[in-house]
Amino acid sequence: MVTDGEIEKNLSRIDSAEEEIRLRKEEYKILHEISKILHETGELKEMLTKVMTRLTHFEELKVEHKAGIFLADEEKRVLRLFSTIGKFSEEFLEKEKEIPYGNCLCGRVAASGEMIISKSCFTDNRHENKFKGMTAHGHYIIPLQSQGRMVGVLFLYTDENPPWYVRSQEILISIGGLLAEGILSRQREEQIRNNNENLKKINDLKNKFLGIASHDLRNPLFIIQSFSEVIKDASVGDINAKQKDLLEKIYNASKFMSALLDNLLDVSKIESGKIDLDRKVQDLNLTAKQQVELNQLLAEKKSIKLTLSLADIPPLSYDHNAIIQVMGNFIGNAIKFSPSNTEIIIATECVENDIRFSVCDEGPGLSEEDQKLLFKEFQVLSAKPTGGEKSTGLGLAIVKKLVHLHSGRVGAYSNKGAGSTFFFTLPSQ
Ligand SMILES: Nc1ncnc2c1ncn2[C@@H]1O[C@H](COP(=O)(O)OP(=O)(O)O)[C@@H](O)[C@H]1O
Ligand SMILES: [Mg+2]
Repeated sequence: MVTDGEIEKNLSRIDSAEEEIRLRKEEYKILHEISKILHETGELKEMLTKVMTRLTHFEELKVEHKAGIFLADEEKRVLRLFSTIGKFSEEFLEKEKEIPYGNCLCGRVAASGEMIISKSCFTDNRHENKFKGMTAHGHYIIPLQSQGRMVGVLFLYTDENPPWYVRSQEILISIGGLLAEGILSRQREEQIRNNNENLKKINDLKNKFLGIASHDLRNPLFIIQSFSEVIKDASVGDINAKQKDLLEKIYNASKFMSALLDNLLDVSKIESGKIDLDRKVQDLNLTAKQQVELNQLLAEKKSIKLTLSLADIPPLSYDHNAIIQVMGNFIGNAIKFSPSNTEIIIATECVENDIRFSVCDEGPGLSEEDQKLLFKEFQVLSAKPTGGEKSTGLGLAIVKKLVHLHSGRVGAYSNKGAGSTFFFTLPSQ
């Protein structure tokens, strides 16, 4: 026979089990909601305000709508007040702006990494900082720690000596960990943003300098180039063979420098966004044909055969001068790095939604290392010119920038020793 007393007992056991389940559910809910807030985008302060407000809604904690977060400066061992909710006096906000580790309740938590539950600001002698008009209150002071780093301290106000929630330690320390992670990841993001802004500033400065320097060097260089040409060709009087040879060297060096300056100016113009594409709908096959004709003489000098393989492609919108420069660089490189008696195939074709222009040669090809460095500035790679031509290592970097401005892609593939194919694509619509 089950007695009334036993039934009573069982019922109350069921009641407390149900209460336990309800509380657990509340705890999971709050953890879930806080982690959701921490993944939202927005300002760090706003995010922390939301978290603190959400905490004040967790009834069992019996916290007031009054809380704050200090961020830790581990190097200087100080806490700086970052964000609060609820009413705080001017005096409090001023005095608590910065507190050293070890001072008052929050400083103690920062120093020890241990959470403090304090019954009353008047009877707890660790509560060293007092303020005018301070009313009796208790505290939860929670360390915000992640991966052994003290990130900050969260303080929550309670009534004086409240009925403390049984699992307040577990739940608040977990929340402290989540908050620390959230703050750290925001701080990292901000650092990356700042670094990027600084890099951009430095890069802009570099482009400006590059632009000015190459522009100002052009005129004197032009004088050297044209006068050495006139003298070496004996247009202003006879010269002997030795003088001719030396002047030839001056002329070639200044020609190379002038090409280098043109490339540097191009890089600086493109990077600083000073290049306006003049896009018109036109025939890429025609542009390819013109470029092949222009390079024919150069190729013949090295007994290299240029072959066109053009597909039926729709008209495309592009900047003629820019695409000429791109094609000229690919074809010029193929001629420059290929040995005599080889063939270069210049092709156009439709590939999915793109039109692809490619230059395939039978030159030395590209090693894996080369392929990683292609299209970057100042990369003179393992292939060396086969006819005494010069290299600046800027051509492909300019090609990439110009094609990207057209929303296209560039690439190259090769088998070392078996030629290479360089290509770019343009979107067909
Ligand atoms: N068709 C090619 N075959 C083999 N190597 C090439 C080819 N095109 C370019 N390269 C390599 O890439 C480097 C960079 O090319 P580029 O930027 O046009 O500069 P440059 O023509 O002034 O050398 C070249 O120095 C060369 O080593
Ligand atoms: Mg080149």
